[in-house]
Amino acid sequence: MTDGEVVLGDPSVVVDDLHVTYRILGTRRKAVEAAPQGRMRKLVGRSLGSTGGVTEIHAVRGVSFVARHGESIGIVGTNGSGKSTTLQALAGLIQPSQGSVYVAGIPSLLGVSAVLVRKLTGARNIMIGGLALGLTKDEVEERFDEIVEFADIGDFVHLPMTTYSAGMAARLRFAISTAAVPDVLMIDEALATGDAAFRERSRQRVDEIRRQAGTVFVVSHSLASIKAMCTRAIWIDKGLVRMDGPAEDVTAAYHEHTRARSGPAKG
Ligand SMILES: Nc1ncnc2c1ncn2[C@@H]1O[C@H](COP(=O)(O)OP(=O)(O)OP(=O)(O)O)[C@@H](O)[C@H]1O
Ligand SMILES: [Mg+2]
Repeated sequence: MTDGEVVLGDPSVVVDDLHVTYRILGTRRKAVEAAPQGRMRKLVGRSLGSTGGVTEIHAVRGVSFVARHGESIGIVGTNGSGKSTTLQALAGLIQPSQGSVYVAGIPSLLGVSAVLVRKLTGARNIMIGGLALGLTKDEVEERFDEIVEFADIGDFVHLPMTTYSAGMAARLRFAISTAAVPDVLMIDEALATGDAAFRERSRQRVDEIRRQAGTVFVVSHSLASIKAMCTRAIWIDKGLVRMDGPAEDVTAAYHEHTRARSGPAKG
């Protein structure tokens, strides 16, 4: 568990009955519709709606919660349950089809990832990412060494990011994203490829952000990471909040659920 010394502030994120529906135009559903009453048809029919060449995926179906300054919140749930979609709606990257999202301050969905260019060197990307975070050129230059040190990529900073391992690239993205203390930081599976030392540094930085009244969301399939980094966790299941509470309790319940679903426990 993280230290409990951070006093929670006012709400920083308010999500009220959030719905997100993906609309896919021009989808060919004929093949599926023509299929006999097989498994595929049943599966598709359950989660997809289709009208006039538009397929709809109702990915988030009424999610509500309030997050406060100083909180780090883990989001758990099985593949396709709507975790990434929820974060993207918080970051303003996709429009809710219903409900509302209120974010105090500027959200950053490990955000710089979108603007980074893998063909360019780490150094160039630090500048691009820093500017995208709203830092000035001078401020990025001032923080340059610290970012490289945190990412621990050494001289690779002068090579294109295409030459980085998955873990190195993830470390650099995290280092850039947190170079300016964000109001609301969202981390979607970005820590999965980091090694133990990097996970510990990330945990410390998340604590630092909380102490400076930021709010951090961490989506991860690693319940250990969630327990280490988060004070609270939200379990999203089929587009709905199934449980919301202390990270310890929610990860335990989710673990129990996935264990039960994967069949009789071995050993
Ligand atoms: N860009 C997209 N266009 C259409 N459908 C999408 C898109 N992104 C996600 N979906 C659908 O929305 C649903 C929720 O997906 P989402 O990516 O939010 O799940 P997730 O909980 O993040 O899963 P994972 O653990 O695999 O990352 C899924 O049914 C998925 O197929
Ligand atoms: Mg996801």
